[in-house]
Amino acid sequence: MTPLQKKRLAYVPTIPQVLTDLNAVTFSEKGATESKGDQAEIKKRFPHLYGRPIMQPTKGSTESKPLNIGVVLSGGQAAGGHNVIAGLFDAIKQFHPESHLFGFLGGPAGIIDGKYKDLSEDELANYCNQGGFDLIGSGRTKIETNEQFTKALEVALSLKLDGLVVIGGDDSNTNAALLAEYFIEKGCKTRVVGVPKTIDGDLRNEHVAISFGFDTACKTYSEMIGNIARDALSAKKYTHFIKLMGRSASHIALECALQTQPNITLIGEEVEAKNQTLQEIAEDLISIIERRGKEGKNYGVVLIPEGLIEFIPEMKVLIQELNTLLAKEGGSAEKLSADSKKTFDYLPKEIQNQLLLDRDPHGNVQVSHIQTEMLLSHVVKAELKKRNFEGKFNAVHHFFGYEGRSGFPSNFDATYCYSLGMVSALLVREGLSGYMSCVTGLTKPAAEWGVCALPITSLMNMEMRKGKEKPVIQKALVDLQGKAFKDFERHRDKWKLQDHYQFPGPIQFEGDSSYTDQMPLFMQK
Ligand code: FBP
Repeated sequence: MTPLQKKRLAYVPTIPQVLTDLNAVTFSEKGATESKGDQAEIKKRFPHLYGRPIMQPTKGSTESKPLNIGVVLSGGQAAGGHNVIAGLFDAIKQFHPESHLFGFLGGPAGIIDGKYKDLSEDELANYCNQGGFDLIGSGRTKIETNEQFTKALEVALSLKLDGLVVIGGDDSNTNAALLAEYFIEKGCKTRVVGVPKTIDGDLRNEHVAISFGFDTACKTYSEMIGNIARDALSAKKYTHFIKLMGRSASHIALECALQTQPNITLIGEEVEAKNQTLQEIAEDLISIIERRGKEGKNYGVVLIPEGLIEFIPEMKVLIQELNTLLAKEGGSAEKLSADSKKTFDYLPKEIQNQLLLDRDPHGNVQVSHIQTEMLLSHVVKAELKKRNFEGKFNAVHHFFGYEGRSGFPSNFDATYCYSLGMVSALLVREGLSGYMSCVTGLTKPAAEWGVCALPITSLMNMEMRKGKEKPVIQKALVDLQGKAFKDFERHRDKWKLQDHYQFPGPIQFEGDSSYTDQMPLFMQK
């Protein structure tokens, strides 16, 4: 173990006041809910869960009996996952020392296959405040067939599970709600609770200010962007095209832009709102590159959210057509509409191949495998050549994604996650199924954070997945009227030509709280 690993093991997250005496917390109703959209259809699919109220903590004493709880990490890694498990473990042991926590291995597939381990204090002790999900692994299996549901039920019954905690993003929490509904329908006592995890930051709402992992990811990427900006400023010879993870929404790109102030940041949601084609986006980039070139600045930093590709109108139509075609047996790009065929044929061969890659188990195109940064620089370069650009244009490409998901969680993520774990234990004990654990008031000091339980169906609407209408949690996209975007919009023109780069440096764990305990900048707006 490195000295820092050891040091982080010893870090003790602050526990919010409301969670200091778990046996004195019960919940009361705060008002009924409705789904985000398609109310009638969501109600039909979730007859037992639909309309359940938000629950808030109240003081009261509770019975202390042992609980058997299963926990699963689902989807992409996000820093802090081990702390959720640690918070959950410590809470159920506080409820009763004979409680058990079973960690399902390799994601939701572990539930179906009955692969798990009975987690012990000694084992967990090596994972607190460490990155990654390697204690039990993760996976993206979608529980959707009757056979999968039946197997999950058998496993829940055989382990006598009082609860199952699903730590995941929008798709995984949708999975949690489906399982919760199914278990109730079958008279099974296992309550299913979700925990908001995803670096993408698109699982947010009035009660979830941010999903865990976003803070660490953005700080990690911002450190690297700052380093590259400094390199660009020193060498003055490269234009860096940096693609950033974030499957759909551009929250990561926006947060990193606020932290580092690069010359150009594309925001997918704005591109969609302005209906900008690929050519028009390239035109905007070219005009900035030309203006900088005239001032002898043949360098720069461009941030590109990986989800951008699905916001460009003609690409969005193309991807939707491909999703439907490829979902069918033997489907191929041959049957594209005339317009989409034209778009497809215009793309470089590599990008075409990347668009045809397998969808993930939830039917999403795998944007992390599409080199949008190459596509943009390719179009820009071709156009600059046509215009006999007199400056120099040397593009260097980067993709920052996996680097940001498994590092040591920031103090914010470490503390937030431990609390989320404790709240999930409370929800199971309270008998709340189909709920998401929420820690609220995150802009206050951790000791003052609050908690609540949010019905997962209240976040849902119907969307097309793998060519079929499915109930899913609606992704929270960048709000173009929101304070964070408005702030970015106010400053970005001056960042284009002059260089106002910021250099955040590496995540700090010790020292002045102004840099160790900073939450994401967008939350401070
Ligand atoms: P989750 O939504 O499951 O948290 O995952 C998000 C993400 O990190 C995206 O940013 C990225 O596009 C995707 O996972 C990559 O998936 P994979 O790890 O399967 O390559």
